Amino acid sequence: MTKLIPSAVAAATAVLSFNALAQSPAAAPVDPNTFLNQFESSFGKFEGFRRSGAKGICATGEFVGTADARALSMASAFSGKPVPVVVRFSVGGANPKAPDNAKSQRNMALQFDLPGGEQWQMGNISAPVFGASTPQQFFGRLASLQPDPATKAADPAKVKAFADANPEVLLQGKYYASQPVPASFGSVNYWGVHAFGFVNASGSKQYGKWIFEPAAGVQGLTDDEAKAKGPSFLFDDLRQRVSEGKVAFYFNLELAQADDRIDNATVPLPEGRKKVKLGLLKITSVAEDGGGPCLAITFNPMMLPKGVEPSADPVLAARAAPYAIGLGRRVTEGPKQ
Ligand code: HEM
Repeated sequence: MTKLIPSAVAAATAVLSFNALAQSPAAAPVDPNTFLNQFESSFGKFEGFRRSGAKGICATGEFVGTADARALSMASAFSGKPVPVVVRFSVGGANPKAPDNAKSQRNMALQFDLPGGEQWQMGNISAPVFGASTPQQFFGRLASLQPDPATKAADPAKVKAFADANPEVLLQGKYYASQPVPASFGSVNYWGVHAFGFVNASGSKQYGKWIFEPAAGVQGLTDDEAKAKGPSFLFDDLRQRVSEGKVAFYFNLELAQADDRIDNATVPLPEGRKKVKLGLLKITSVAEDGGGPCLAITFNPMMLPKGVEPSADPVLAARAAPYAIGLGRRVTEGPKQ
């Protein structure tokens, strides 16, 4: 994984982990409604759409776990029998018309529908790091990006002042800038960015960070190819590739070692950690535009199966409530995507 991270970013994360350590663990929680209001003030309010990852498409898939996964976790997702999965691919940001041909975030959100009504939900992004180490820092970053009413643009001095004081907020964007525009939703890596604990039948717990890697390999566009594709090609591309049976991802877990940071989504695990193949996710169908089984659900990353536990990463726990409030707002408005 880490060979994909520019060494400058990797070096910066090592230094920046000191900043994260220096932050007060007692910082006041951000009210989830205040979070949602800030998303709307900073990026606009698009009624009915997700306030983050607005431009998306539903798909369905099937996951089969490996024996190696069963050795790490008792989660029924890894039984080796096929598990149905609700999938949502999206382009990052609040704008439902975000261009597909920009060097920006792609997302893959998953809901594993497990035996007995159990569910496992997650939202994965196309970078190995998130843009903030705490919910307070994420909120501060969003606030710094709020447009000034007079200029209708963010105040560059405010943006710079916040980023200078919180340099890890730039790491995620630097990663996207260093990568080509993804050729397809099906041809880019998606990271979970948080650590999770995998607990097996004998009760031993192994922390790790996961990554979904396209079975057919990563594929990017040159700048000229991206320009020629235009702003809206990802949905048709996905339909085409899925109809040919070409979209699948290995679900891989990088295993943390004793002194690794596992409570900070801006710090990837060190290079060279052992990687275990947990299984294969095949995308089997794509829904019509604007509808499908992912439209009126949210993907709460704290919705975990027995055998997978959250780490102490404060951003992970802080996601649950804003996702629920976000779902409430857009369902009330009439859900769209
Ligand atoms: C405190 C931190 C965060 C807040 C407040 C936040 C907020 C949100 C909100 C409000 C949504 C829309 C939810 C909905 O309407 O269903 C969303 C979607 C999403 N977020 Fe976050 N987020 C946070 C951190 C993260 C992190 C660390 C990741 C990286 C893995 C992430 C990945 C995603 C993805 C992939 C989606 C789209 C999910 C979908 O397709 O439904 N978020 N986020």
